[in-house]
Amino acid sequence: MMMLGGKHILVTGAASGIGAAAARVFTAHGARVACLDINADGAAEVAAVLPGAISARCDVSDPTSVAAAIDAVIAAFGRLDGAFNNAGIEQSRGRMMPLETIPLVDFDAVMAVNLRGLFICLQAELPRLSRPGAIVNTGSVMSAVAAPGLAAYAASKHGVMGLTRVAAVDHAALGIRVNAVLPGAVATPMILERAEAHAPGYAAAAAGFHPMGRVAAPEEIAEAAAWLISDRASFVTGAALAVDGGLTAV
Ligand SMILES: NC(=O)c1ccc[n+]([C@@H]2O[C@H](COP(=O)([O-])OP(=O)(O)OC[C@H]3O[C@@H](n4cnc5c(N)ncnc54)[C@H](O)[C@@H]3O)[C@@H](O)[C@H]2O)c1
Repeated sequence: MMMLGGKHILVTGAASGIGAAAARVFTAHGARVACLDINADGAAEVAAVLPGAISARCDVSDPTSVAAAIDAVIAAFGRLDGAFNNAGIEQSRGRMMPLETIPLVDFDAVMAVNLRGLFICLQAELPRLSRPGAIVNTGSVMSAVAAPGLAAYAASKHGVMGLTRVAAVDHAALGIRVNAVLPGAVATPMILERAEAHAPGYAAAAAGFHPMGRVAAPEEIAEAAAWLISDRASFVTGAALAVDGGLTAV
């Protein structure tokens, strides 16, 4: 049996980076995936080449949009066995700055997607998931530790663990597991294009922060999420799985 055989799984932020890799990796492990993203065309492009996949526009910061997307997924699949809540944005389009200089509008923007958006998705998914069901949320190493200049992003990602842990304990006896992956730096447009645009050389410097001496490929995060969603992780809930080349072990 393939690791995700028979599973119907939605992925948010599926148009790019880790989410697009997850759609491919979950499909390769036997799942049917629903690619959700605020970028509807990008999500459709990812889904178009994956057997059994569908796509829908979904803005995770908008409860109406999330409800409509989940309705569409369940209408198409007849069930929902798992969710990878991965949509997220960086702070200030990739700019790092001291806490006292971060514009409030930037703080609000990152919280709206990374934390409030996750809350909205969890509220919509939990009552509708099959049991057993499983959810994986994308945190960050910044769910566990700090980095200079990233107060808003780190606050949002620390919040991801709060939601993950409470959702896990609330639903442990109900057959739903909820976990988080905590990536280190990953080779996606977030790092390679936007962080790099504000701080040339950032991607190369980020590689040096990791004991493995490199950043991750998005598929390496997706493989960890695939395992957490699968029945092979049947006694794992409320966990924060660092996928960070040893960064938080230092
Ligand atoms: N790249 C990294 O180094 C890194 C490290 C740790 C954690 N993360 C986290 O991984 C996740 C994915 O990031 P990525 O690196 O693949 O970035 P990315 O920019 O390549 O992809 C993010 C996707 O999320 C979508 N998105 C943004 N706002 C949305 C919204 N309101 N509703 C729905 N979709 C929305 C974007 O359209 C995009 O397709 C994020 O939660 C990010 O915080 C990334």
